[in-house]
Amino acid sequence: MACTINVNLPQQSYEIVIAPSTLGQIGEYMSRLKLGNKVLVVSNPTVFEIYGQPVVNSLQSREYEVSTCILPDGESYKNLDSIKIIYDACVENRLERSSTMVALGGGVIGDMTGFAAATWLRGINFVQVPTTLLAMVDSSIGGKTGVNHPQGKNLIGAFYQPKFVLIDPEVLQTLPDREFRAGMAEVIKYGVIWDADFFAQMEATTGLDNIKAISPELLETILRLSCQAKADVVGKDEKEAGLRAILNYGHTIGHAVESLTGYTKVIHGEAVGIGMVAAGNLAAELGMWTHTETERQNHLIEKAGLQTHLPSNLDIDAIIDALQIDKKVKAGKVRFVLPTQIGKVEITDQVPNDTIRRVLSAMS
Ligand code: NAD
Ligand code: GLY
Repeated sequence: MACTINVNLPQQSYEIVIAPSTLGQIGEYMSRLKLGNKVLVVSNPTVFEIYGQPVVNSLQSREYEVSTCILPDGESYKNLDSIKIIYDACVENRLERSSTMVALGGGVIGDMTGFAAATWLRGINFVQVPTTLLAMVDSSIGGKTGVNHPQGKNLIGAFYQPKFVLIDPEVLQTLPDREFRAGMAEVIKYGVIWDADFFAQMEATTGLDNIKAISPELLETILRLSCQAKADVVGKDEKEAGLRAILNYGHTIGHAVESLTGYTKVIHGEAVGIGMVAAGNLAAELGMWTHTETERQNHLIEKAGLQTHLPSNLDIDAIIDALQIDKKVKAGKVRFVLPTQIGKVEITDQVPNDTIRRVLSAMS
């Protein structure tokens, strides 16, 4: 079971390969791209300890000159200090314009490696080897790269596309259950915003909350349909001039929850799950879709083992204030992605604060 999805872009198209047991064949895939022979593998200790050696061995077997840069693990290290560590490794290992950075890890490593690759020597090659579900279905695709600023998440960044994305689903077997469930939030997102059949397929499935309960066939379907949805949207609007903003479904309130809980109590995917519940409830309150559809969505989110309530002690006014510094604010108005039916969403800035407050109170 293997499949390839094309991300078709005006400047540079690329492939996402989803194939089990391929991590140790990265060298072979890379050699097909005809890139320079220096490779910097960027990872963290958690991931590198399990998967670093097969990747390095495979690259070396294809005559690549491989160096590594191991950054501390965690969202709190997604900052310019870590980017400097990557730049230092570039200097030490004399990376050139033809060299390649390989991001081996979750979204944190992928976003930072992409940003370092975008800016080192005004841009060198990079390849994504995502190892979390969230990174496989979302962050490794589409070229959003960057780091956090003390004042906000992902405020520093660049659009910079990878040359290739290699997804080996087997690495998910070592992913902590909590991280798997967090990734399922982004998977469910694609069903709500883009693909009603995929949504219905997930509704008809049991055991979405646990990688061990998911068959390889179902996992391949989840990865394929999610990556296809992301590739479709990015292919139509690479730089988020319009359509791509629908990928931020659940992220408006999600980002506020994530930042107000310090990025650790509620992790990104969990916050997106809560944000989708809030967005669905807002849409129902505004008469944009039905209460039945809200329930279908919220039930699926629960089935994936995700929270549908706000964390305790979170102040609703603080959430409303936090929405104002979100990147999705335009001309002083907060923009929400709200569903109109399963598989379809709209972007609106016509959401009264009273309605937000009422919906959030009901979720407390
Ligand atoms: P993460 O990168 O922090 O990884 C989660 C944890 O899992 C880490 O501790 C990591 O070391 C560990 N891990 C990773 N793979 C593992 C494996 N196979 N086995 C065992 N442990 C493993 O978190 P994430 O959820 O992958 O990414 C979140 C980040 O992605 C956030 O910074 C978010 O802003 C970003 N993001 C970016 C985009 C984008 O389009 N660029 C989209 C969504 C999210
Ligand atoms: N994850 C949002 C985007 O890629 O646009």
